Amino acid sequence: MSRVYSFSAGPSAFPESVLKQAQAEMLEWRGSGMSVMEMSHRGKHFSMIAEELESDLRELLAIPTNYKVLFLQGGASAQFSLIPQNILNGKTKACYVNTGAWSEKAIQDAKGQCEVILSASSEASKFTHIPNVESWSIDTDAAYLHYTSNETIHGVEFQSIPDSKGLTLVSDMSSNILSRPVDVSKFGIIYAGTQKNMGPAGVTVVIVRDDLIGHAAKGTPPVFDYAQQVKNGSMLNTPATYNWYLVGLVLKWLKEQGGVAAIEQRNINKAAKLYDVIDQSTLYSNPVEKFVRSRMNVPFILNDEALDKPFLAASEANGLFELKGHRSVGGMRASIYNAMPDSGVDALCEFIKEFERTH
Ligand SMILES: Cc1ncc(COP(=O)(O)O)c(C=O)c1O
Repeated sequence: MSRVYSFSAGPSAFPESVLKQAQAEMLEWRGSGMSVMEMSHRGKHFSMIAEELESDLRELLAIPTNYKVLFLQGGASAQFSLIPQNILNGKTKACYVNTGAWSEKAIQDAKGQCEVILSASSEASKFTHIPNVESWSIDTDAAYLHYTSNETIHGVEFQSIPDSKGLTLVSDMSSNILSRPVDVSKFGIIYAGTQKNMGPAGVTVVIVRDDLIGHAAKGTPPVFDYAQQVKNGSMLNTPATYNWYLVGLVLKWLKEQGGVAAIEQRNINKAAKLYDVIDQSTLYSNPVEKFVRSRMNVPFILNDEALDKPFLAASEANGLFELKGHRSVGGMRASIYNAMPDSGVDALCEFIKEFERTH
């Protein structure tokens, strides 16, 4: 067996030790006599897994007690609709900031439920910057302000929490949750799919402040109503049990790494190395304003498009996979989430330099 480095944007690289642990526990989970996949979600063994999952996430993100944590299905994409449905609470408007492809999707889906006020947009710069927060137009009658903390496709990341001028702040943190410390108390809702920094695809984490729960629009199906899911411990329907277990293992791994503050330092170093190599070259470039470059997703283009295919073929020959950029922007993208080891980034940097030297 020979493993390669996966720079996929999600589903993405897993900590290898976690894969090994899952392998070791596949047939029988800790004296239970069965695989996690074979357990009832209502039984005592799975209840332990579920409790630890929530308490580890609460510990890692220092989630205050007046927030509930849900583990749902449908991806962050489902939340694009479920957030307005659950928290408009009679209001008819919501503010959105458009910093890239994922903001756009959130905006599109919210439009089905309310009037969207575009507070700011970086579309004119092809999503290569974040508009100055002072210039955002915030409507105080809106139910909330939504932004995407890291744009997975465009490689743009907020470096601090924006001031929502008193509006409930909602953030899609799918691609940078747990990569840096965050003050949860500043938010009404934080949501994220698990397939980047928390393990496998199939679970959506929704962290929601108590006062926002219980106001779903009339006719909201119970599985989509936060209040119903809170009441049932995210088990109103059968949860994705094995995925919860895997997310739990990834969170334990993150604790072993020293937690979020420690992984942030590693993420800063990994991203700096990669951007340095790109900036120092004449073959590659990254268009994003330096201050808002993503630590998680590093898009770059080759100045001669004809080299794209040879670049990808040679990278794979060197054990570096999934570097093709998103189809909407082209070029390359290296996703270097928490689980990407330094050795993977080092190997990529070396390859990028070597390819430039030989082309
Ligand atoms: C920032 C962001 N938001 C939302 C999504 C959609 O997630 P899902 O496919 O799990 O619905 C993605 C997927 O890559 C993403 O990167």
